[in-house]
Amino acid sequence: MKIELLFTPAASAKSELLAVFAVDNSSSKDKDAKPELALLTSDEAVKKAASYVLSSGEFKGESSETLLLHAPEGLAAARLLIIGLGKSAKADPHAIRRAAGTAVRFAKPRGIRSLSILVPEGGLDGAQSVRAIAEGAILADFDSDTYRTDRKDRSIETLSILVPSSADKSAAEAAHREGMIMAESQNFARTLINEPGNRMTPTILGQRAAEMASENGLKFEVHSTDKLRELKMGAFLSVAQGSDEPPALIVIQYEPASARPDAPVMGLVGKGITFDTGGISIKPADNMEKMKYDMAGGAAMIGAMRAIAQLKPAIKVIAVVCAAENMPSGKAVKPGDITFAMSGKSIEVLNTDAEGRMVLADGLHYARELGATRLVDAATLTGAVAIALGQINAGVFANDEDAYQHFTAALKVSGEKFWRLPVEDDYREQIRSSIADIQNTGLTRYGGAINGAMFLKEFVGDTPWLHLDIAGLAWQDAEKPWLAKGPTGVAVRSIVEWVRSYA
Ligand code: BES
Ligand code: ZN
Ligand code: ZN
Repeated sequence: MKIELLFTPAASAKSELLAVFAVDNSSSKDKDAKPELALLTSDEAVKKAASYVLSSGEFKGESSETLLLHAPEGLAAARLLIIGLGKSAKADPHAIRRAAGTAVRFAKPRGIRSLSILVPEGGLDGAQSVRAIAEGAILADFDSDTYRTDRKDRSIETLSILVPSSADKSAAEAAHREGMIMAESQNFARTLINEPGNRMTPTILGQRAAEMASENGLKFEVHSTDKLRELKMGAFLSVAQGSDEPPALIVIQYEPASARPDAPVMGLVGKGITFDTGGISIKPADNMEKMKYDMAGGAAMIGAMRAIAQLKPAIKVIAVVCAAENMPSGKAVKPGDITFAMSGKSIEVLNTDAEGRMVLADGLHYARELGATRLVDAATLTGAVAIALGQINAGVFANDEDAYQHFTAALKVSGEKFWRLPVEDDYREQIRSSIADIQNTGLTRYGGAINGAMFLKEFVGDTPWLHLDIAGLAWQDAEKPWLAKGPTGVAVRSIVEWVRSYA
């Protein structure tokens, strides 16, 4: 999709479809209040074209509600699409991101290839709106049906973002660029996640990351079994040993000359299990195919590095992705086996399906050895996090208030939803082993997401650290008006904003 900014009047924009946003100005306290609709534009021609249908009472202005007019009078566009943002108090950049996505997904199946979206006026920050429109549109253009032989590419060819003449031109241009980088990087992660296990092995993930790194001028290394042995990554190796596919330890570094010598070094660590059968503690057959997305945390870090390379914050960033396939075999790790992590800690493997924390144990330790002084990991770590938080919020755990504050500030920009869960030492007894230092599952089945986080905490020492458990949000089973079903690429935007907040 080509996206351009146009500073021309909306009425003269020649496209197959012109989208404009509407809000409901009625009181948000009174549920039965009649909608008071307002179009977020000062363009008289657009207002006139929409006025009759808006007064009909047919359109309520609810979030994601759409109303289509053909051959709108006085406009150069072939169609006018009115999209609701909901009550005016809720009309923020996040509502705009969704509404722009809704416009794109409205257009795609109807064979519409060129689209214009009007930047809303009326109290909203113009640049933030431009960024939200670019992000929402690019994210909405993604579809996951890659291997349908009758697949019709219904991508939008051009999107014109129509900026009102009153807006700050250079701020709009910068916001446009940021939005494109963010969403294209998130879509890049989604493309990786969408691939099935036979087409996304640890080796292939390493190759895709290498291509991205060379295209974006990032330092890149990938290691496999021999180097993992040399580094004494016993926890990571114990997961990989059951598979014929060799593991990949992917290291991507961004080292700008602009970084202050005393600035923190950001470490991004991702779980890259390209397929999780559960190993000897094998998973049930139902839904096992979903476990191709068990590398979503790793993909998020690779996507984040792409965005970081292009946005160029003045801060050093190291990404470590631990990629392996978790398989049962004659060589696989067994319940009860003891392994030694790179840090020297001994681990009793009680359940081979708790493999994510094993690979991350060595990934987190290695990131610190490479010099990271702030850590974030992202992982589809536990089913329990989805039991706790549903599929609306992902889980965030933090051992440091300042790092968490930086993250909440990042969420305000990204619009992603994360909910904090505890990692207090009181929970530690859950992972105490009677034969080794720690065990890889909790003593009880309660607080499963916390037990996973407590295990990881053993490997971060006193380094400020965030753990993002994205198991409930990395894959979407049903389509939304603004987003296809399939891989979501959750966490990419928040991680990038978190990194930038330190620069
Ligand atoms: N990859 C799974 C977690 C998962 C579940 C991701 C559902 C996405 C959707 C992880 O490796 C796993 O199997 N975790 C176990 C941990 C348990 C054995 C302590 C789980 O959640 O059951
Ligand atoms: Zn597992
Ligand atoms: Zn897993």
